[in-house]
Amino acid sequence: MLKNFSAAVLAGSVLAVCLGFERQGSSTVADETPAKNYATYCAGCHGEKMDMFVDRNWKFGNKKEDIAKSITHGHADEGMPAFGGTLSEAEINGLADYILEGIKNVGQYTSREKPVGDVFKTENMTIKLEQVSGPGLDVPWGIAFLPGGDLLVTDRGGKLFRVGKDKSMTEISGVPEVWSRGQGGLMDVITDPRFASNNTIYLSYSKPKTEGGTTMGTTAIMRAVLKGNALSNQKDIFVAEPYQRTQLHYGSRMQFGRDGYLYFSVGERGNEKANPQEIKNNALGKIHRIKSDGTIPADNPFVKTTGALSSIYSYGHRNPQGLTIHPTTGKIWETEHGPRGGDELNIVSPGKNYGWPVISYGINYNGKPITNLTAKAGMEQPVHYWIPSIGPSGLAFVQGNKYKGWTGNVLAGSLRFEFLQRLVLTGNKVTKQEILFKNIGRVRDVRMGPDGFIYMAVESPGRVFRLVPQP
Ligand code: HEC
Repeated sequence: MLKNFSAAVLAGSVLAVCLGFERQGSSTVADETPAKNYATYCAGCHGEKMDMFVDRNWKFGNKKEDIAKSITHGHADEGMPAFGGTLSEAEINGLADYILEGIKNVGQYTSREKPVGDVFKTENMTIKLEQVSGPGLDVPWGIAFLPGGDLLVTDRGGKLFRVGKDKSMTEISGVPEVWSRGQGGLMDVITDPRFASNNTIYLSYSKPKTEGGTTMGTTAIMRAVLKGNALSNQKDIFVAEPYQRTQLHYGSRMQFGRDGYLYFSVGERGNEKANPQEIKNNALGKIHRIKSDGTIPADNPFVKTTGALSSIYSYGHRNPQGLTIHPTTGKIWETEHGPRGGDELNIVSPGKNYGWPVISYGINYNGKPITNLTAKAGMEQPVHYWIPSIGPSGLAFVQGNKYKGWTGNVLAGSLRFEFLQRLVLTGNKVTKQEILFKNIGRVRDVRMGPDGFIYMAVESPGRVFRLVPQP
């Protein structure tokens, strides 16, 4: 694991810069296998599974000779020890081959072949992807289910559609004006738990504001009543302060908890220094919990903390775009985008600090750690993290009995690698992963429908699929 990365880098670089690496035992020992050498000398800093090499902009070249040179001479000023005095030339060449082979086997991350057909074999069953949406979608961001079987689907550009059972696409009027730039736009949509009687829905979106000629934006939550194909009684029940100029990291996933309160995520807007660790008057980089009219539940964790924003449920988040409720525990589960590597799956508990940017498993694009810490007292560890980043969006637990062997698994969309990830859990530990529908397109949302089927929204062209197990 990478837990000791920073300690190893620090200790290792000091040691290495002065001395080079010492091999334990005598200097006349026979050559070791590359796997053994990698585990002994490299894994502590570069990850057991070559995590740090998988997704790298190579600085010193990734041809075999380049890698061998890096290993032999090191890069003292970067913290990479020289192994020329420790390992034989054959061992160094062996390691270079081993790394090249290791990163080649990460084929899941490199293949870009589009799937042919709509029937997919998975480990447990064969699944047909039935398209349920009609034409006209570009970036479907969120899916909600209406009682009669219609869907509501947001398109990030700013439109909300009712998708009929005949794939008809009807635009809903009365949506908010959105700042549709960068990662912003019209994002999530959910229905009220009592929709059948109050016809109420919630939209998350990037809300613009122009001041002195400069436009800024923030994440906002609008509540509205849906009658026919029109929204009325629109009201912003939450507007995240402070507005920012960036067009990044809006978060924006929403979910009603078992307690009847509305949980939603707001990203740190690309400003990790100012926002995620600041709970005073700062809504960015947080999960919030509010009542459906926008007021604050009396038992929120920071209601009694002077100056703190009382809607905050948890903090220290980067860009959470997956939010769901565990079907048996009722706990809030969340996925968020890490920097490069370090995307997280978290169980969100009240008042907790999820660490960004003080702790992270992610690294900078030049391969250096963003922070020296992956863990710290008072900060939560993820249930699971992804290196390289998959770009997680949408999150759902598989429920019911339609999907044999998947019940209780968690599904996460991958924007970056364009697949759906199935995670098998044993307790709160991820014990197995499967890639589904490889290269299908950027997977933006995944949900369990009230009909017991899984639905998935994919981008460009925008499509919503129902996952139908085949006999
Ligand atoms: C003390 C920590 C440490 C150890 C041990 C270590 N490395 Fe490194 N290595 C680094 C750092 C830090 C860098 C430079 C920053 C970066 O690019 O990750 C680096 C860079 C490299 C590079 C160049 C990467 C590029 O982008 O061009 C290669 C190749 C490499 N290491 C291979 C190895 C191998 C093989 C071993 C084991 C024999 C090893 N390293 C052991 C810390 C370490």
